[in-house]
Amino acid sequence: TVPSDLKSLMAPSKKLPFHLQSSHTRLLIKNGTVVNADKMEEMDLYIEDGIIKQLGRNMIIPGGTRTIDAKSMYVMPGGIDPHTHLEFEFMGDKSVDDFYTGTRAAVSGGTTMILDFAIPKKDESLINTYMKYRKLADGKVCCDYGLHVGITSWSDSVKNEMSDLCKMYGVNSFKFFLAYKDLYMINDEEMYHCLEACKELGAVAMVHAENGTIIKENTKKLLKEGITGPEGHELSRPEEVEAEAVFRACVFANQVKCPLYVVHVMSSSAGKMLAQKRREYQQRSVPHLLFGETLAAALGTYWKPNICLHFEDAAAHVLGPPLRPDPSTPTELMKLLATGDLQTVGSDNCTFNAKQKALGIGDFSKIPNGVNGVEDRMSIVWEKGVTAGIIDPTQFVAITSTNAAKIFNLYPKKGRIAVGSDADIVVWNPKRTKKISAKTHQQAVDYNIFEGTVVHGVAEYVIVKGRVCVEEAEIKASLSRGLGEFVQTPVFPAIAYPDAAPIKAENKDFEDELLILDDEIDFDGVTN
Ligand code: URP
Ligand code: ZN
Ligand code: ZN
Ligand code: ZN
Repeated sequence: TVPSDLKSLMAPSKKLPFHLQSSHTRLLIKNGTVVNADKMEEMDLYIEDGIIKQLGRNMIIPGGTRTIDAKSMYVMPGGIDPHTHLEFEFMGDKSVDDFYTGTRAAVSGGTTMILDFAIPKKDESLINTYMKYRKLADGKVCCDYGLHVGITSWSDSVKNEMSDLCKMYGVNSFKFFLAYKDLYMINDEEMYHCLEACKELGAVAMVHAENGTIIKENTKKLLKEGITGPEGHELSRPEEVEAEAVFRACVFANQVKCPLYVVHVMSSSAGKMLAQKRREYQQRSVPHLLFGETLAAALGTYWKPNICLHFEDAAAHVLGPPLRPDPSTPTELMKLLATGDLQTVGSDNCTFNAKQKALGIGDFSKIPNGVNGVEDRMSIVWEKGVTAGIIDPTQFVAITSTNAAKIFNLYPKKGRIAVGSDADIVVWNPKRTKKISAKTHQQAVDYNIFEGTVVHGVAEYVIVKGRVCVEEAEIKASLSRGLGEFVQTPVFPAIAYPDAAPIKAENKDFEDELLILDDEIDFDGVTN
């Protein structure tokens, strides 16, 4: 039985609002190179009613179909950003990119789906928090989205709510925190039980891996010594504080045999630790127990020595885990993506304006943590990965889209150019360049940590659910509020639970959603 609060949210979601129903539902993308995570092929692509209907050459298509010439360009699955915090109430303020500006910026950069986090306070209900996010996001998002839910305490009621979220609310992933002591942090015993619950439900456990006890004690010491500026942030939590928590979470996951996704790996030490444990467990035939994500921020910049000349610049670069002062970090993390030791790149987009960051003047521990990235993630990965010669376009697709789709069980509806998949597509122009700047970006935030970076490769066309929303790298009026909708993420993703039956979800709505893969369903929900 679907709870009534949820029914009210679900009912309108299949029908696209009238003002968004367009006559341009037929689209042909010609002469491009179609890139999937496993291969590249010269192919044309025919889209109807938001779904990819044909792939090939010399196809017979209906008259009146709009054609896009993708010559010399790559036709790729739209990006999936597995990690955002839009309109997130955190550390005394609320992040300024909301579900409208954030998803609009995402699409402008080639991302066509985001996974955001509904994070409850320690005494808050998980389902109420989830509902709060659904109400914030539904009707506002410009592209599809899903939700991870935070586990910030442990009790029978938390466990029961996790079960309901998996079975009725379309959630398959839960993030717990080993940092943010007294706010979100859970202890080792709670982590063990949380992993057990995730395993039982077929969910993916996600961990923020930093040692919150060490951070708290170091912070007190640094402030007492008079180190109050933003430089204190990284000093309070150097690389090994991240690597220790990665190690601990991996060991717990292996003991419980629960799939674990380590979010925002920010240092070489943590990346190498995760790679070592992943390889170790794989050799002992526990395939795909561990997954790792790094961030556009970590690939695109680092904690440069001159950052601390101005509080404003330094504070704008503060996130947890921090950017590292070691300048080799971006390349080392990109190499771990190239070797498959890390699987995804998120943005952790959690933006605060200078005025909000100023909460931390005189005490670095009060700087609201978070940076931009939802808009620039694709171009940063292309620049630091493909242009730099470390990865090829198929790997680019894997780490910006396909791997996230597989881990969070959205594949092949998302994350692949294939017949039956959603027409969430980016036509990538490797010849167009762009200089990233806060002055020209789409995001609501007043700062850009990639300021001045020139990228050789941008989203030329972005197609969201079959609608051309970006054209010649410019946003069109078709990119509008409410174009996206909530997408359920079913439990037991095959990549993490290879021995489980494909669908274990009890909710019929899941199955309806999945049928879209095989059947043609138009926006009224009518099967053709
Ligand atoms: O600094 C960060 N990362 N802010 C967002 C919250 C989190 O831990 O992901
Ligand atoms: Zn985190
Ligand atoms: Zn400055
Ligand atoms: Zn985050």
